[in-house]
Amino acid sequence: MSGKVVVLLGPPGVGKGTQGVRLSRDRSWAHVSTGDLLRAARKAGTELGRRARAYMDRGRLVPDDVIVGLVREHLRTLPAEQGVVFDGFPRTVVQAEALEAVLTDAGRQVDRVVLLDADAELLVKRIAGRRSSPNGRVYNVYFDPPKAEGVCDETGEPLVHRPDDLPATVRARLDVYHEVTAPLVGFYEGRGVLTRVNGEGEMTEIQQAIAGAVGLSQAVAGSPVLA
Ligand code: AP5
Repeated sequence: MSGKVVVLLGPPGVGKGTQGVRLSRDRSWAHVSTGDLLRAARKAGTELGRRARAYMDRGRLVPDDVIVGLVREHLRTLPAEQGVVFDGFPRTVVQAEALEAVLTDAGRQVDRVVLLDADAELLVKRIAGRRSSPNGRVYNVYFDPPKAEGVCDETGEPLVHRPDDLPATVRARLDVYHEVTAPLVGFYEGRGVLTRVNGEGEMTEIQQAIAGAVGLSQAVAGSPVLA
């Protein structure tokens, strides 16, 4: 039997990565973050990483053909029975159609798309406060601080700011989201698989709402599922 395929959709800083880790972790699902794959390619100094850098540092999207090729290759490495959570992909209608084609070939489909949303001011504050460990663990100086300032709890390494988290780049990323990615809301509504979850709540509360939306457990009373 094929595992579930879930897409986390939403603007920069809304918590896709945070919730993608939580949803995948306890179930041994694959968490496929195109942002993380691109950052790993940059760190490794590959041709893909060099090509992606110019787009990422300006807050622009990396071209569809590059992203679709990257995801297609990555999916080949995953067993068909493993659940998958996509975070930051698809981000354009072209990418969504390509994902459908790849999944159809594999006898799979997008089972649920969870749209997380939050007020723009809160998104900017979350991004301003985000600090990342080289091991991938993400903190927030306002909402989820490490035990010792500036240092990863798990590895003791210094925490860093993402290069694309500068204020001007964040504004560009938000504009790109509204222009190019937001149309996916209508795309997935048309397919009857979209659930909206309020991304402004507490992390665990949102996690429960997403689990409920995906059909993994009942959403708790008063949880932030909107439709
Ligand atoms: P990507 O890495 O995907 O960035 P993004 O979509 O802009 O999203 P973020 O990672 O900024 O935010 P998030 O929603 O994951 O929030 P997080 O959980 O970290 O993409 C980066 C770039 O790569 C793109 O600009 C583009 O250039 C390129 N790219 C990637 N995918 C692409 C694609 N498919 N096509 C083309 N180009 C692509 O949370 C943010 C902070 O808030 C954290 O500090 C966290 O601790 C905190 N937080 C989270 N939830 C809560 C909560 N409930 N309460 C309080 N704090 C919270």
